Amino acid sequence: MSQASSITITLEGTNSSASMPLLTGTLGPQVADIRKLYNQLGVFTYDPGYGTTASCESKITYIDGDEGVLLYRGYPIEQLAEKSDFIEVCYLLMYGELPTRTQLDKFRDGVTRHTMVHEQIRRFFDGFRRDAHPMAIMCGVVGALAAFYHDNLDINDPHQREIAAFRLIAKVPTIAAMAYKYALGQPFVYPRNDLSYAANFLHMLNAVPAEPYNVSPVLERAMDRILVLHADHEQNASTSTVRLAGSTGANPFACIAAGIAALWGPAHGGANEAVLKMLDEIGTPENIPSFIEKVKDKNSNVKLMGFGHRVYKNFDPRAKIMKETCHEVLGELGIKDEPLLDMAMEMERIALTDDYFVSRKLYPNVDFYSGIILKAMGIPTSMFTVIFAVARTVGWVSQWKEMIEDPSQRIGRPRQIYTGAASRDYRAVDSR
Ligand code: CMC
Repeated sequence: MSQASSITITLEGTNSSASMPLLTGTLGPQVADIRKLYNQLGVFTYDPGYGTTASCESKITYIDGDEGVLLYRGYPIEQLAEKSDFIEVCYLLMYGELPTRTQLDKFRDGVTRHTMVHEQIRRFFDGFRRDAHPMAIMCGVVGALAAFYHDNLDINDPHQREIAAFRLIAKVPTIAAMAYKYALGQPFVYPRNDLSYAANFLHMLNAVPAEPYNVSPVLERAMDRILVLHADHEQNASTSTVRLAGSTGANPFACIAAGIAALWGPAHGGANEAVLKMLDEIGTPENIPSFIEKVKDKNSNVKLMGFGHRVYKNFDPRAKIMKETCHEVLGELGIKDEPLLDMAMEMERIALTDDYFVSRKLYPNVDFYSGIILKAMGIPTSMFTVIFAVARTVGWVSQWKEMIEDPSQRIGRPRQIYTGAASRDYRAVDSR
């Protein structure tokens, strides 16, 4: 980060003005450093939803929303989705470079040695209803990991931070699969460290003790690609939540649970589940036009789920890859006719030619097609956001590590415009 020039802010009608540095990163717009604004001019900035606020410096992920570009550590998502795999992407996100063969083997070994959870964790599940949403279970059980790794965890020690990261990347899929098995009433399946990350996850989701389960290479590849595409996405709502919670020095397992809670909402990771519910509700292609009319009606509060993005004002590059993967997976699984995919494509066609969506630059996002692939893979709708959480855990821990290691890191503490009552005196209840 370097200072290229400065920006002068003048308070109209006064003689007060202040010069603020304009900072330049590697890519992206310049950023006005307004840290001294309050000291110099006595004013705050107002940016609800943080649409124009850079909350941190980061070297991990870059998005160009106008061009539809997504880079992990400088590498285009298209190249990583095609040529890399999830565990290598985890290394890249955490350490900043692609690993050598030796580094990759050591990293994979480091992660896989932490895949099992403490036996006591199993008992947590008994406290949940069988019909509990698996994201509710994820919030609770991932947060509960803090109780197992708290007293001896020093977040200022790089080695301990790394172990916490390994534990999270390794154990979140195990807990996710346990949440699924619990809902089914099937026994929990222990991890198999001889399998790839994606294959082991599928094994824990689908195997039963009564018969052998062989992971299909088609499904393994599809799951791996889904994990790669969701691994990180710079300062989105859940990542910002993890950073904010982490800025207080909180236990990293508790911080990731906070991220899982933020991810769950339908405006964020919950959208993949919402897309399938929406397609189900629409039912048949004839109903699409009337649904689109409802979406366009401001009073209806109906959104086209899987469409729109705060940053992308062009195609979400992940959605493009997801759409291709969707066709590949259905083809490889021999599913010739998938009405949901036909409906999704028809909705996309209509939306992309409708002025409402065109003028607002609303394009399909990653969640529009991911649910259709997951459904074809036999994964129930309620697990979609859980799979997003499994993938995003590496992004969250990488961003958390980067934040802790940033010398300029301070507790996150936004200000506000107060519009409530001015100071007034208390009156006793009988005199009100
Ligand atoms: N359907 C209909 N209208 C929409 C949609 C949509 N999906 N998204 C945005 N708009 C409209 C919005 O009503 C507003 O219209 P107007 O200017 O007339 O008031 C305009 O487009 C600008 O939208 P915004 O609400 O200012 O956009 P935002 O950046 O605050 O919200 C979003 C972004 C992703 C929350 C929103 O587009 C949305 O709710 N999409 C549906 C949910 C979804 O698919 N979320 C997944 C996002 S990608 C994966 C992830 O991040 O987890």
